[in-house]
Amino acid sequence: MRGVSCAIAITAPERPATARSVARVTACALWGLETALVTVEVDVANGLPALVVVGLPDAAVQEARERVRAAVRNSGFEFPLRRVTVNLAPAERRKEGTGFELAIALGILRASGQLRVDVAALCLGELALDGALRPVRGTMPRVRHAAMRGVREVLVADANAGEAAACGVESFGFGSLRGVVDHLEGRARVAPTAVPPRAAAPRHPVDLGHIAGQETPKRALEIAAAGGHNLLFVGPPGTGKTMLARALESILPPLDDAEALAASAVHSVAGLTDPRHPVLTARPFRAPHHTASHLSLVGGGSPPRPGEVSLAHCGVLFLDELAEFSPSVLDTLREPLEERSITISRAGGAATYPARFVLVAAMNPCPCGHWGDPELECRCLPEQIDRYRARLSGPLLDRIDLRVHVPRVPYERLREDGRESSGAVQLRVMAARERMRRRIGGPGGRVNADLNVAEVKRHCAVEAETKGLLADAVRARRLSARGYHRVLRVARTAADLAGSERVRAGDVALALLLRAEP
Ligand SMILES: Nc1ncnc2c1ncn2[C@@H]1O[C@H](COP(=O)(O)OP(=O)(O)O)[C@@H](O)[C@H]1O
Ligand SMILES: [Mg+2]
Repeated sequence: MRGVSCAIAITAPERPATARSVARVTACALWGLETALVTVEVDVANGLPALVVVGLPDAAVQEARERVRAAVRNSGFEFPLRRVTVNLAPAERRKEGTGFELAIALGILRASGQLRVDVAALCLGELALDGALRPVRGTMPRVRHAAMRGVREVLVADANAGEAAACGVESFGFGSLRGVVDHLEGRARVAPTAVPPRAAAPRHPVDLGHIAGQETPKRALEIAAAGGHNLLFVGPPGTGKTMLARALESILPPLDDAEALAASAVHSVAGLTDPRHPVLTARPFRAPHHTASHLSLVGGGSPPRPGEVSLAHCGVLFLDELAEFSPSVLDTLREPLEERSITISRAGGAATYPARFVLVAAMNPCPCGHWGDPELECRCLPEQIDRYRARLSGPLLDRIDLRVHVPRVPYERLREDGRESSGAVQLRVMAARERMRRRIGGPGGRVNADLNVAEVKRHCAVEAETKGLLADAVRARRLSARGYHRVLRVARTAADLAGSERVRAGDVALALLLRAEP
């Protein structure tokens, strides 16, 4: 094979002396959510025909080389029969292998004189063997990064053009490498892509007004939404646990701009962006099935991809049938619940993704579901019940501030409407959040669930007679120090919802009531 190419190389005509030798095209590297501008330098020199790529991870080099070579030829260009060296600078920077192929191909065409203009724009895209331009993951964080560094124009695949336009740059979308060259040389200019309209305000599938009774679980939902507290519903099948959990998104405050961009960036890296509405307008509501793997829940792979905990960033993670999840999978939730982020370590380096979500979970009290049900008899053996509950580890339960029984609603009451609609509750939640913002401030809309121990001492102080109530509860329930602080945070949220600057005895009593043993 090599012998054949050599023979051609010897007979190939020399390039005209006017052809530039080193070309530079700008791309952007991605690793997790980390981004960095990359200069793709291409040198075409005399020598045996070869394409050498440096600065990419090993596995990606081979693929990029073959795709670029075929795409250039199949777009009606000549692949230079000389020594082509491609350097992705800075070389030591960690980067995924995707998204550089458009920049590499344009660099080769420029360096070999087949593209007659310099490329000033940021170029992102993967090439198919036939020269088609394919979208890449993580376009939004990459383009935002470039825009902050002064890049004004980007060239991407059609499917990424809206996402790039939403980042405030002039975005041009293309279906092929040929189309990009025709645009750059002015033969067939493409119009910049319009900024996609924001999606209409979300319509929530479940409204609290549709749920009859269940005043205590609804109270817990309101507290969870206001203070960002994690919540577990326990009760027999068919009592509305799933319905209640789904109503949580309808009472959370609307996404603000910073949250929308942060959540959309994670979706972009996961390749889940909707090209028509690249910026999320609704809080994410992620409900992975109980058969979900470790990898899909917390993320992983190489390069590391975000999992459900990060896709739920700024929104809700709903784990229905919590006891059916594998205990080892549930154990991996501890880090995101505590740190509000998750670090995925891989051979190529670690990546950290945000994971700030409200956890809402639901489970039956026992395998048959009727333990404690006044109407139907539980047929489980005590060992079965113990084994079932042991599937939830103590440390995980300790991080769930609100644990609430969801009883059966009497048949006669089922047709009644709920007392309040979600809209009314959402207004109280927003007012409570405003109190929190004024009290604790800080970046990223911190809520009471985020209070550190010093802040709990400062902001959740209780009066003398309430101290006695708390001391009794700590002793009787053998609350851990973490559990004790969590009760105080929940009490703080109950007070905020009531518009009280003081944490009152009633707020503490409510927090204790909403922390039933499952
Ligand atoms: N309190 C309620 N008010 C109105 N409908 C209810 C209520 N509880 C249950 N339902 C009805 O029962 C169905 C099953 O509820 P679901 O949330 O799936 O129960 P669970 O998750 O506890 O098994 C719901 O779709 C709804 O139609
Ligand atoms: Mg259910």
